Amino acid sequence: MRARITNILATFAASLAVVAPVCAKADPSAERQRELVNLVRQDCGSCHGMTFRGGLGPPLTSEALREKPADTLTATILNGRPGTPMPPWRQFVSEAEAGWIVDRLQKGFLDDAR
Ligand code: HEC
Repeated sequence: MRARITNILATFAASLAVVAPVCAKADPSAERQRELVNLVRQDCGSCHGMTFRGGLGPPLTSEALREKPADTLTATILNGRPGTPMPPWRQFVSEAEAGWIVDRLQKGFLDDAR
């Protein structure tokens, strides 16, 4: 009996190990990714420049963002920067989605999202 429970626990732990990392960093669905790409290109591009090289807002190229902490950038997208024209996007994107956007921007959004 004890062996059986240990066995069940081991199986459970193993399945958690497989599922947990996927949950923690779940990418948006393919369809949602397309919506997010459009949002970033159109809405963010209007201030940050259509090629993200800067406009009213600073550049969002991988060169500009690579070294910056992802958490801070994600928070900036969600909450905006009060006192600056950067608006909050919390109503439009979830925290996970904002994190995904930051990840893509840091990796060079335009390079692989064409
Ligand atoms: C109305 C203009 C405007 C729009 C639209 C806008 N931003 Fe911004 N954004 C700014 C400005 C201005 C700043 C600089 C704020 C400051 O002075 O700290 C900024 C800052 C940022 C930063 C921080 C950059 C850094 O180097 O620290 C990120 C990331 C960012 N915006 C992402 C986005 C994303 C993603 C979108 C679209 C979902 C977006 N912005 C839409 C104006 C805008």
